[in-house]
Amino acid sequence: MNIEEARGRIAAAQRIVALTGSGISAESGIPTFRGPGGLWRNFRPEDLATPQAFRRDPQLVWEWYDWRRSLIAQANPNAGHIALAELEQRTPSFTLVTQNVDGLHARAGSVNVVRLHGDIWTLRCTRCERSWEDMRASLDPLPPICECGAMARPGVVWFGEPLPTREWNIAAQASHQSEVFLIIGTSAVVQPAASLAGVAQDAGAIVIEVNAAQTEISDWVDCHLEGNASEILPLLLAP
Ligand code: OAD
Repeated sequence: MNIEEARGRIAAAQRIVALTGSGISAESGIPTFRGPGGLWRNFRPEDLATPQAFRRDPQLVWEWYDWRRSLIAQANPNAGHIALAELEQRTPSFTLVTQNVDGLHARAGSVNVVRLHGDIWTLRCTRCERSWEDMRASLDPLPPICECGAMARPGVVWFGEPLPTREWNIAAQASHQSEVFLIIGTSAVVQPAASLAGVAQDAGAIVIEVNAAQTEISDWVDCHLEGNASEILPLLLAP
């Protein structure tokens, strides 16, 4: 299927799901996880975004999150985020499922956003489970402390942790019912998020992938569009 056909299917669809990954925010200046720029002080994200890393060295993990928070605070949504927010406005049922924690979809105007991996601007107590929003780009003290005196952690999902049940159920149900499933800027290697594309296709949806490169799912999607999300999405999603 070429981009023109894909555009027609999207324009005619009643029920659309879009799953996004860090690639959609790359052109906003936020490094992807596995791409160039993902390394921080020579640590790989996979070695920092884990409960084990936080137990071993909370200061180090918090310094990494503080760095990411300051990058995200300076970033703005790009044309890809905006095209998705506009598509939501004219689609009867539209669910945006994201693995990103940067909040750029909401800032671009998306309303129905399902955050599978949490939110970098939310902090959560490691003892009393209280969670709260803190939008400061740089936290002081670091690690931050809850009212109850215990250390806070970032309100995100780490490797090996379960996804939030409510969000997962909404994402799985919407994917199952979708006519068109867009998968954008994700390497599609982190489960269970990546499995949603297969759920949608098995239930009859067409799957359209937008990615700067080939991924593990490119061989079986119905349409693979290779290039930058901020350039392809405005063309693909134009009314
Ligand atoms: P990855 O870093 O694994 O993949 C980023 C994808 O975006 C790659 O497939 C790139 O080819 C693509 N890409 C890069 N720039 C792009 C651009 N301008 N336009 C379109 N595509 C582009 O990041 P994710 O797939 O988001 O989880 O990673 C998934 C999860 O693993 C993350 O949510 C995070 C991570 O570790 C947790 O922290 C639990």
